[in-house]
Amino acid sequence: MALPTTQKKWIINGTQKGLDELQYTEGPVPKVDDYSVLVKLHAASINYRDILIPTGNFPFSLKLPVVGGSDGAGEVIDIGARVTRWKKGDRVATLFNPGHQSGPLSRDAFLQGGFGGTIDGTFQEYAVFEETALVRLAANLSYVEGASLSDAAVTAWNALYGLKPLKPGEWVLVQGTGGVSLFAAQFAKAGGGRVIATTSSPAKAEILTQLGVDHVILYPEDPNWGVTAKNLTPNHEGVEHIVEVVGADTMHQSLQAVKLEGVISVIGLIGGRDTPDTIAEAVRKICTLRGVHVGSRVQMEEMMAAIEANKIQPVVDKRLFHLEELRDALEYLVCCLLFHSISIPGCLLSRPSRLLANIVLQAAQRHVGKVVIKIV
Ligand SMILES: NC(=O)c1ccc[n+]([C@@H]2O[C@H](COP(=O)([O-])OP(=O)(O)OC[C@H]3O[C@@H](n4cnc5c(N)ncnc54)[C@H](OP(=O)(O)O)[C@@H]3O)[C@@H](O)[C@H]2O)c1
Repeated sequence: MALPTTQKKWIINGTQKGLDELQYTEGPVPKVDDYSVLVKLHAASINYRDILIPTGNFPFSLKLPVVGGSDGAGEVIDIGARVTRWKKGDRVATLFNPGHQSGPLSRDAFLQGGFGGTIDGTFQEYAVFEETALVRLAANLSYVEGASLSDAAVTAWNALYGLKPLKPGEWVLVQGTGGVSLFAAQFAKAGGGRVIATTSSPAKAEILTQLGVDHVILYPEDPNWGVTAKNLTPNHEGVEHIVEVVGADTMHQSLQAVKLEGVISVIGLIGGRDTPDTIAEAVRKICTLRGVHVGSRVQMEEMMAAIEANKIQPVVDKRLFHLEELRDALEYLVCCLLFHSISIPGCLLSRPSRLLANIVLQAAQRHVGKVVIKIV
């Protein structure tokens, strides 16, 4: 069958005008070289990063204009002459940063950046990838599920199994019902961990319980949820692994919950950056505060093997979007979630106080798990 020659795609042009920097356009389908493959993308998923870039809030390398999107899954439809890892028809998912193949992230790979930031990404119908920039999709996953993994899932996997691998029976605390946290809960349960989750509403608590989470704490009703979490563990010793996705609003409670010598994986800053007392508390708890930046291809392959072996199905939000609806999807992800320094076109409020932001946030965070764009 003849390969397509043109396609639709979303380009990020700049960092000043928010979502107005996104342009839905048509362009040529790229061609493979000796070591690359052409993938027909069936689905992509979105991350806060896709908002941070066009609003000028992304603190890592960028090379604009670029086709947006780091997460995707699809089918190999053409291969270069020297490609050994793939054949036509293979089902694949994209790696976040193709320079991070294994082991610690090198400075060069860090600066090189990832898909949708410095390299054309997944918000398009077809894309060419180096053969080492892809991972085989687990057999139990659909393309929609597979498209949810590149960023949030690998980050969750790295948090739990990267530095100090989770052992059966250990306790894990996850925050909220977003992508990273739900993957962390699923990976922790698969590894024999005990999971405590915080969330904003009883309806979301039910979803966490159905996922197998052992204890759910409603944080609007329990401002000292860190102590509550600690008291749930044997001898009130605390939690071995905390997957910290919020930042300033939650770090103090995370430090209450953590066990001596535990690990707090610092992943997101949804709640801001100021964290008074963190250093003193970290010393008192002899804990590790570890910044995490996604993960390597080897980690993604290990994660995929665990997903297949344990038949883990990613939690995909009930609302699926089409490629032309990318802007709607991004607004759905963050509408009314306003970072302190940015304002997103289409949202109700701009630059609210921390208190107001949190009230609005709890009322407005509609999605659960990953928000996915269906391309085919
Ligand atoms: N370092 C990395 O490599 C990396 C990788 C991926 C993502 N991230 C970052 O990690 C963060 C989370 O990403 P995500 O994709 O999981 O986001 P997400 O899907 O939107 O999840 C965020 C969830 O956190 C909960 N939440 C929000 N504000 C909260 C607050 N003030 N207190 C407690 N819980 C709150 C909400 O769940 P409930 O309503 O259930 O409470 C919300 O749905 C983002 O900042 C993202 O940029 C970093």
